[in-house]
Amino acid sequence: MHISIQGLNKIYPNGNQALTNVNLDIQEGMFGLLGPNGAGKSSLMRILVTLMKPSSGQILVNDLDHFKNRDYVRSKLGYLPQDFSFFSNLKTYEFLDYAARLAGMKSGRKRRASVDRMLEDVGLFDVRNRKAGKLSGGMKRRLGIAQALINEPQIIIVDEPTTGLDPEERIRFRNLLARLSVKDVIIILSTHIVADISSTCEHMALLNRGQVAFTGSPEELINQAKGHVWSIDVSEKEYVEVNQKYQVIATVMKEDGWKVTVVGDEVKGFAAEAIQPNLEHAYVYFVEHTLKAN
Ligand SMILES: Nc1ncnc2c1ncn2[C@@H]1O[C@H](COP(=O)(O)OP(=O)(O)OP(=O)(O)O)[C@@H](O)[C@H]1O
Ligand SMILES: [Mg+2]
Repeated sequence: MHISIQGLNKIYPNGNQALTNVNLDIQEGMFGLLGPNGAGKSSLMRILVTLMKPSSGQILVNDLDHFKNRDYVRSKLGYLPQDFSFFSNLKTYEFLDYAARLAGMKSGRKRRASVDRMLEDVGLFDVRNRKAGKLSGGMKRRLGIAQALINEPQIIIVDEPTTGLDPEERIRFRNLLARLSVKDVIIILSTHIVADISSTCEHMALLNRGQVAFTGSPEELINQAKGHVWSIDVSEKEYVEVNQKYQVIATVMKEDGWKVTVVGDEVKGFAAEAIQPNLEHAYVYFVEHTLKAN
């Protein structure tokens, strides 16, 4: 599996430009799409799952034009939309069975076996007879994930899948995806939670205001932020000034003032020490500084 996104633009009918010249090469494995609210993550995903056409540009899936081969692409896809909702009058297992039928699983016996296995995998087997609408928020999320995975897709696109999950469920979910990330499968995961990316994705892109601000590995993102993250010891009075001048990302109280972490290309007028960035620092640096010039 291989997805090549070339010169993609999306302008909504009301004039909103959601994507600007997006070029991305996505290989097998987990690919993280990171970006702040409104960056264009969901727009890109809706185009990838063929629900929406780009204004210009193209996508190739295994060298095939993605819109001209829509049926082929759809047969390989599993999708969890950001605003996933479902028929709440169905029982949990009935809902999943319905999703499996929609995905083209015709044999009743095979379908039931897949549904049971998937319910086990996402930890919903014990509540399989509960109405889907009566599940907790986290459980609904897991049912959404289950419906995306039921037909063993080779391209899995999940839009903010960990929203509303507690930390334990997030870890469990990440492990589930990591297990699926076997040979010949592409998983694209969008999030604005940096930790979701750092712990699972080998490759990632950072989207900001419709543009790709970075693409590479999380380590490369960190490396490129080196020399742009600073630690400054300040008095209470200086703190106000630092806060006005720089993007402060952490503040720790000390006996005689504050220790603040800021991002920026340089720090003047304060005793600043460049520190080793983590992924969160790097994210803020790229979001705040890479597109400002444009
Ligand atoms: N149907 C639409 N019509 C007009 N503009 C839209 C539409 N959907 C999204 N947009 C705009 O396109 C831009 C990108 O939105 P999108 O939902 O793709 O971002 P996102 O990265 O998924 O954000 P979030 O993290 O909040 O989910 C935003 O400016 C948004 O307001
Ligand atoms: Mg979104």
